[in-house]
Amino acid sequence: MEIRAEKSDDTEAVYQVNVAAFGRKSEADLVDALRGAASALSFVAVESGQIVGHVFFSPVEIVGVCADDVLVFGLAPVSVIPNYQRQGIGSLLIQYGLKECAQLGGSAVVVLGFPEYYSRFGFTPAREKGLECEYPVPDEVFMVLELESGALEGCVGMVRYCSEFNKLE
Ligand SMILES: CC(C)(COP(=O)(O)OP(=O)(O)OC[C@H]1O[C@@H](n2cnc3c(N)ncnc32)[C@H](O)[C@@H]1OP(=O)(O)O)[C@@H](O)C(=O)NCCC(=O)NCCS
Repeated sequence: MEIRAEKSDDTEAVYQVNVAAFGRKSEADLVDALRGAASALSFVAVESGQIVGHVFFSPVEIVGVCADDVLVFGLAPVSVIPNYQRQGIGSLLIQYGLKECAQLGGSAVVVLGFPEYYSRFGFTPAREKGLECEYPVPDEVFMVLELESGALEGCVGMVRYCSEFNKLE
């Protein structure tokens, strides 16, 4: 199993991984729409030459009070094709991606998803760190991970994803 940055000729395979994992095209189309976003990061999991998993990180905006040098990424989407799920591939992708976000100077990463899953990577409810979601979701599903302890100190506000996310139902 290799985890690596997405390359230009991976686009179609990444599209198909997202369609297979989510059972619809919305997330795959979202990735295509976001790919050009400044500072966006995309990683794939490759098994025997086949792309079987994918994770994407895009910058989010904190609408509120936050130092200018605070860089926060949104983790979304993450996908593993059904036959390869529950074998640790999603975890490898997320851990790899978090390290890369930190190397790029990222302060924190937010995610909207299953609390039982993301808590194993250290994510905790974002509201406890002063951040709220722009979408009406229960507090426990919107989570944040500081990539460096205290990186979000003094930040209070609403997290706004790239506008492409607004099309997602
Ligand atoms: C979520 C996903 C990326 C995880 O990838 P994975 O390679 O299966 O994950 P791992 O093997 O690292 O971890 C497996 C764990 O994921 C968690 N998990 C997977 N699907 C889940 C779901 N629908 N609800 C809650 N937890 C889930 C479970 O805790 C599972 O642990 P278990 O096997 O002990 O039950 C993958 O299941 C997937 O592509 N799902 C469809 C797309 C999706 O929902 N993406 C996430 C949106 S937040």
